[in-house]
Amino acid sequence: MTVPIGVNLTTASAPPMAGRTTTPTAATAARTWTHRHLLDVDQLSRAELETCLDTASRLRSLRETGALRERPLIAGTTVGLAFYEASTRTRVSFELAARELGATVVDLSVAGSSVSKGESLADTLRTLERTGVTTVVLRHGASGAPYLAARSTGLRILNAGDGLHGHPTQALLDALTLRDALGGSLDGRRIAIIGDIAHSRVARSNLHALVRLGASLTLGGPPAWVSGFGAWPGVRVAGSLAETLEGADAVMTLRVQLERAAGGGVSSLRQYTASWGLTEERMHLARPGAPLLHPGPTNEGVELTAALASGPRSLIGRQVTNGVAVRMAVLSLLAA
Ligand code: CP
Repeated sequence: MTVPIGVNLTTASAPPMAGRTTTPTAATAARTWTHRHLLDVDQLSRAELETCLDTASRLRSLRETGALRERPLIAGTTVGLAFYEASTRTRVSFELAARELGATVVDLSVAGSSVSKGESLADTLRTLERTGVTTVVLRHGASGAPYLAARSTGLRILNAGDGLHGHPTQALLDALTLRDALGGSLDGRRIAIIGDIAHSRVARSNLHALVRLGASLTLGGPPAWVSGFGAWPGVRVAGSLAETLEGADAVMTLRVQLERAAGGGVSSLRQYTASWGLTEERMHLARPGAPLLHPGPTNEGVELTAALASGPRSLIGRQVTNGVAVRMAVLSLLAA
């Protein structure tokens, strides 16, 4: 049975009774959602961010109980996965999320498509649209590619990471993971983010989302990777790892983009690890029990130790699991 658009995604908690086609509620998340695309989190108000997280939390529960199988929330939608850059987490979780909600999924397989014959992004997406694809999940190496896609086609576009610019669903899943771990709210919480902020689309989207959700951020890393971000509201740049971690309620370290590290910003990976690499001992500089996040993929032995990545503080596995829930939420909301 298809649940009509308008079902309250933030409060639906159980499969509908036989013969009922919707959950009876007043103002629904779906009705208040006005966005056609998800290009970055900066387009979302605090209330909309919270709607995404609440919806993800609810859909996560429904998925765990198997109830989603009886509620194909986006049946009739055809989701195209267009990944022009490598991905494991984002790609797999979007595919699972779309299938969980009853969508048809088409995988573009960029390397084996007409992209390899020189077809432009806009032409490729228009071709998908003409075949019946309604929504495209786009990862692209060029910052701004999802904005071009949204302008050039009638497709709904979900940004799955564009160049150095943004990675909105990563920021949403990070916010959900943090909110769960920190007692249900980020208000007044202090989050440390360590690494190459300047070249990180994950960091950029997190700066928007976490600050808007009430957190304050302390950034740490080599000066070339963090300078200038202190002007961002709610953000402070620290001068050392100890200063970054002091008083942090949670810590996020970023993947060192090895391809960039060689080119600038740090004298050597060994030097980066010596100054900014996280160990269990160094994590004691944060608040007791402060959890650790990493968007993945990790370079164990560079930005963090293998023991820390798999240890009790680590929420890295939880982030991945929450990725499916968050992507179900945005697919549902955008289909409304
Ligand atoms: N965090 C993230 O975007 O991972 P993938 O590149 O594996 O999708």
